Amino acid sequence: METNKADVLLGLQWGDEGKGKIVDVLTPHYKMVARFQGGPNAGHTLVFEGKKYILHTIPSGIFHQGCLNVVGNGVVLDPFIINRELDQLDMPVEVLQESLFICGKAHLILPSHRLLDAAFENKKGNLRIGSTLKGIGPAYTDKVARTGLRLIDTASDRFMEKYNALKTEHFRLAESLAFDHKSLQLDGLPFDDYEEAWFRGLERLKALPRVQSEVFVNETLDKGARVLAEGAQGTLLDIDFGSYPYVTSSNTITAGACVGLGLAPTRIGEVFGVFKAYCTRVGSGPFPTELHGKEAERLRDLGNEFGSTTGRPRRCGWLDLPALKYAVMVNGVSRLIMTKADVLNELESIKVCVAYDIRGQQQSLLPLTTESEELKPLYKELPGWQTDLEDVKSFEQLPPQLLAYVSMIEDFVQVPVDIISTGADRKQILTRKGAGILQRLAAI
Ligand code: IMP
Repeated sequence: METNKADVLLGLQWGDEGKGKIVDVLTPHYKMVARFQGGPNAGHTLVFEGKKYILHTIPSGIFHQGCLNVVGNGVVLDPFIINRELDQLDMPVEVLQESLFICGKAHLILPSHRLLDAAFENKKGNLRIGSTLKGIGPAYTDKVARTGLRLIDTASDRFMEKYNALKTEHFRLAESLAFDHKSLQLDGLPFDDYEEAWFRGLERLKALPRVQSEVFVNETLDKGARVLAEGAQGTLLDIDFGSYPYVTSSNTITAGACVGLGLAPTRIGEVFGVFKAYCTRVGSGPFPTELHGKEAERLRDLGNEFGSTTGRPRRCGWLDLPALKYAVMVNGVSRLIMTKADVLNELESIKVCVAYDIRGQQQSLLPLTTESEELKPLYKELPGWQTDLEDVKSFEQLPPQLLAYVSMIEDFVQVPVDIISTGADRKQILTRKGAGILQRLAAI
């Protein structure tokens, strides 16, 4: 018997590829959207009807009536931030009760995890990762060390005892790192005020429908309904396959959807890989095609490249095809989705990295460590399209220079580009005629 499979959508670069918008666009074709890793370090931006929403933990299917949104076991939860997200959504409780489901196995980010994140980054000095300081690393550390607290643990009579013991341990550790925690502000609040608000958020979180994501997701598939697993961050920030140690603390790749939701590998269907028409990175770490000075500033301004979670200016550079090909490989990407093509509209010419030169040797595979100053990207230069894409109504009507850019990418990575996003709004999207993605989704 043919098994119904879940599709996965994830980022192929360093995050901020525009995944939230694409999930929002695809959601009408799905019954369930499920987040499988990461936490409030993510910032998925959705724009429709003139309004902008930034989701950090809540899946991007939340604005579609009837869609079941699941926060899986692999996600780390900060009740303070979820509470703020729920305020922003401003949805009646009855609607939330039918549309947002949290896995009891998901681990909690304690206020003292955020304190530790700041302490560790402070200690690293020049070697700091550039973490979003949302407590992600320390929360996953406690999970793996088997000292963490999960949402289901809040039901235990001993919860407060365990919470206080863990908090004391975190403070002891922060003090051992000579971290001055007294002046620390978390989201603009002193620690004690933040903690109080955190507990208020926890009450709200506890009132949301609780599920076991592995059971809920598999049963939904068994009923023949369609499920989309939504990734956060990007492949090059994966704890195993990213530019370690400048990575996040979870598996952002397709395999992460298996462990972060309880899905068997045989239940993965289509893998949608989302990439930007150029590259950006927030925080530290190698970035082979990074631009500097005026060129970088121009791209940053055109693309409004400022972090949606931290507001930090993003580092900008050209598209890196060997890195994209690597990401396609580790994820088993079957369909590509290119975003922010419009950002390049006015450029006279566009560079694309097609290989690296390492000490005189040409290499077309992303090296294990790209920190070496001896690594130089080798570029191919293509003419820009210098056309406003606003009026283009179909994929096939895109300017020939942009179509040539797409063909070059497809030839290099050997996967078709099925969708191009040409702006932040839900409506600014072009799907290729006869694309596999359409046939699959139309068969629902
Ligand atoms: P952390 O996951 O907050 O500890 O951050 C680790 C690294 O991943 C830092 O360089 C962050 O800037 C980066 N990062 C984490 N989450 C995101 C994201 O959602 N988009 C882009 N970069 C991210």
